[in-house]
Amino acid sequence: HKPIRVALLGCGTVGTEVVRLLTDQAADLAARVGAPVELAGIAVRKPNKHREVPADLLTTDAAALVASDVDVVVEVIGGIEPARTLLLDALRAGKSAVTANKALLAEHTAELSAAADASGADLYFEASVAGAIPLLRPLRESLAGDRITRVMGIVNGTTNFILSGMDSTGASYGETLEEATRLGYAEADPTADVDGFDAASKAAILASLAFHTRVTAADVHREGIASVSAADIAAAKALGRIVKLLAICERVPVGGDGEGADAGATEGISVRVHPAMIPRSHPLAGVNGAFNAVFVEADAAGEMMFYGQGAGGAPTASAVLGDLVAVARNLVQGGRGPRESAYAGLPSRPMGQT
Ligand code: NDP
Ligand code: HSE
Repeated sequence: HKPIRVALLGCGTVGTEVVRLLTDQAADLAARVGAPVELAGIAVRKPNKHREVPADLLTTDAAALVASDVDVVVEVIGGIEPARTLLLDALRAGKSAVTANKALLAEHTAELSAAADASGADLYFEASVAGAIPLLRPLRESLAGDRITRVMGIVNGTTNFILSGMDSTGASYGETLEEATRLGYAEADPTADVDGFDAASKAAILASLAFHTRVTAADVHREGIASVSAADIAAAKALGRIVKLLAICERVPVGGDGEGADAGATEGISVRVHPAMIPRSHPLAGVNGAFNAVFVEADAAGEMMFYGQGAGGAPTASAVLGDLVAVARNLVQGGRGPRESAYAGLPSRPMGQT
């Protein structure tokens, strides 16, 4: 099979590691995919900054790279524009896309999926939630025959790094945030992390997949950790508890008429992000640093826990590469990944109260 040509958009914390894995594992990836997976170009803002990648691959013209002779576009720029337009251009042209961009997905999945469905391209986004942890594929595929009732856990590495640092060493909020930024965990604008926007985007993606409905970041009740003080952490400790930023997505009864618990009730969903004091004996209490952990409850499967590195260049690149292999295999062997059109015909549900 002819080589699969990849356009990489962005070469920061995540993109640099994508280049490294693609280069170091080229022979293995070719064997797994059934064709070489080649980097056709890398779009960045400031090429002079990127001495670590071959200069002839670098371009500042991301749109031209997307329009060139490439099969797959991997977007790790972040933010809404130009990422949205670049991905739409790719998908409309029938080029499959892989993205780690939760902020974009939490607003524009419907538009992106429609473009993918119309052209028959793939759209994969495992890296957008919980870094390296395989979580979206299980929700979209493995659990597609079950009825998921709840998805709950720690989905932001930066805030977990801050809260666990404050708890274990008494380090200050400012120091730990600085360290999280240095380690590549924080978003380009870390207020997205500390004010809960990043976790809210991830909760929207999780709820959409788990409950087969459309949830955007604006639907999510959101509180961050900016107001959590050293005194709050100490008070929690004295009570045998620890403060964690939780994302909680669950089915809830709504619209009951008051005549008995469930009378007249229809089902809705509640999606929220807020700090919570949890007992130190709870499994989430032991999730430290930039690790994430998510519990999924489903009617037939029961309770499952997903745990691993939720942020950072290499863990996130692992998830990106997994998606890239899936997309490349589809190109070589035929077939498509899980489709957004699986939502068709399902009622949209009213949001429950938090
Ligand atoms: P960085 O800020 O480290 O990197 C962004 C890259 O995009 C840079 O290389 C930058 O170029 C490039 N870029 C920015 N604007 C443009 C543009 N207009 N055209 C071309 N290139 C552009 O971000 P991260 O790698 O940390 O994150 C990337 C994405 O992955 C985001 O969506 C983020 O939310 C997501 N993500 C990040 C994780 C992490 O742990 N860091 C984990 C999971 C997801 P230049 O270098 O020249 O400035
Ligand atoms: N800033 C994000 C976090 C990156 O800290 O979780 C991973 O999505």
